[in-house]
Amino acid sequence: MNISGRAKLAGIMGWPVEHSRSPVLHNFWLRQYRVDGVYVPLPVRPENLAQALRALPALGFRGCNLTIPHKQAALSIVDRVEPLARRIGAINTVIVGEDGTLEGRNTDAYGFREHLRESVPGWSASRARAVVLGAGGAARAVVAALAEEGVEEIRLVNRTAAHAEALAADLGGGAPRISVHAWARRDAVLDGAGLVINTTSLGMDKQPPLDLDLKALPTGAVVVDIVYVPLETPLLAAARGAGHRVVDGLGMLLHQGRPGFAAWFGTEVGVTAELRAAVLQTLAPSR
Ligand code: ATR
Repeated sequence: MNISGRAKLAGIMGWPVEHSRSPVLHNFWLRQYRVDGVYVPLPVRPENLAQALRALPALGFRGCNLTIPHKQAALSIVDRVEPLARRIGAINTVIVGEDGTLEGRNTDAYGFREHLRESVPGWSASRARAVVLGAGGAARAVVAALAEEGVEEIRLVNRTAAHAEALAADLGGGAPRISVHAWARRDAVLDGAGLVINTTSLGMDKQPPLDLDLKALPTGAVVVDIVYVPLETPLLAAARGAGHRVVDGLGMLLHQGRPGFAAWFGTEVGVTAELRAAVLQTLAPSR
């Protein structure tokens, strides 16, 4: 890689940060689009987050991504938070303005929506009933995306009812209608649904599989798993076998990087098979 003295700078702050695939993703795009820039991992301890974010303009950085455990804490550090990130309650992208101020955005909802659109062309959210499993940070982004897409109803199912109630209180109150259901009812709430999304960690490498009986799900429904290690989770394998349309979790990760890249490096980028392969190569489940 050739980094000139004028290279545009961005990176990802996390603690730890080694697990992040964002450097692979953004440096792939920098090479592909021949942008004079570099994207680096930035290991930042939680107690140093404010200092690190404030240093971005001084160091000439265009901005950064944020990962665990910084996504919520950054809300009270940056100068402006876009309304969507405020609703989701987390920032994953920081943009340094011309005047050195920091703007916080959340591009996870965008990533989810773009990947769904690309994976299931022609699928229409209007009048759709969606089932969302889980009520963590990823579920918040998914619910925000579904609301923007205009789904009619969201059935939220989570192991801890209080987390689902909090999500519904923060993101509900208008359209779509959000109802909260007990974890034990997860098979039954699939009845009549057109879209099912697993946002829990179940099915991930080294985690138990998601125990979900798809019998009640209408044929041809769309089943999304945001878990991407492995790429084909037991849920997606079962859904494929039952004739449903399946959407894996890798695309959300890739698409969420696009708005940040455009803001920092000034180039609109796309998700290609080559990019998927390059990132997948770094994701092989450990044995
Ligand atoms: P993320 O930011 O990736 O969404 P998170 O905030 O830790 O991660 O959320 C993880 C989600 O997976 C939660 O909805 C969690 O359920 P709780 O709210 O009850 O904690 C869900 N989850 C994790 N392990 C689970 C399990 N064994 N059974 C059911 N749900 C589980």
